[in-house]
Amino acid sequence: MRALVVGDTGGIGAALAARLRAQNVSVVGLSRQRDGFDVTDPAQAEAVLDALDGPFDLIFVATGALVNTRVAPEKALRELSAEEMAAQFAVNTIGPALVLKQASRLLARRERGVFAALSARVGSIGDNRAGGWYSYRASKAALNQVIRTGAIELARSHKQAVCVALHPGTVATDFTANYPAHKKVGAEDAASNLLGVCDGLTPNQSGGFFDYAGLEVPW
Ligand SMILES: NC(=O)c1ccc[n+]([C@@H]2O[C@H](COP(=O)([O-])OP(=O)(O)OC[C@H]3O[C@@H](n4cnc5c(N)ncnc54)[C@H](OP(=O)(O)O)[C@@H]3O)[C@@H](O)[C@H]2O)c1
Repeated sequence: MRALVVGDTGGIGAALAARLRAQNVSVVGLSRQRDGFDVTDPAQAEAVLDALDGPFDLIFVATGALVNTRVAPEKALRELSAEEMAAQFAVNTIGPALVLKQASRLLARRERGVFAALSARVGSIGDNRAGGWYSYRASKAALNQVIRTGAIELARSHKQAVCVALHPGTVATDFTANYPAHKKVGAEDAASNLLGVCDGLTPNQSGGFFDYAGLEVPW
């Protein structure tokens, strides 16, 4: 089995890569800091992706950012800026979309292949009760739409494909470092949960949005 972990230097990405390697999966990692895979430079990011050879049984996109130009997500509309919103879309929506663009070439075609991207429950429109976090929420909602749309296209050529958005839970990584009061799971447990979900999903669940327990999250 071969896996591609995009963002394997992040908290969850590193744990995913480690767990897969422990299961004797051959893992190719892609990282901004190590490989120059910076999605804010799309031409460079696409060149790095073009150099990859498939097939992969699992492509897991674990990149993302809570904020780019701010110290914390917006609490109110008056805090919105075009700059932050565009930066969030670049990292959280366009970045995974550029990886998905290569899925038909890189994902196993005849056997079951899984494309998973880390979204977030706060990207759910139906589940939005608390408000705030405009740029992050919107960038993840847009990612969910990209995944759903890509799943429909991928199913035409890859009958066994599973293409999903996943919510990892609240995980203790740099990402959540500013939220000490929140209850979190360790990255290793999150990786184990997420890979278990990937193992259990079937092609007829492709295009869905699932949490770390395999439960569907409302759009
Ligand atoms: N942690 C949570 O509680 C939680 C909850 C819900 C959703 N999520 C989602 O899970 C994903 C991973 O979160 P995490 O906790 O593992 O965060 P993390 O430890 O901060 O890791 C973020 C990853 O994204 C990469 N990245 C950031 N900006 C990038 C860019 N411009 N180009 C390419 N790569 C970039 C980082 O690369 P470098 O290593 O080069 O910085 C790193 O690999 C994110 O999409 C996040 O929205 C996390």
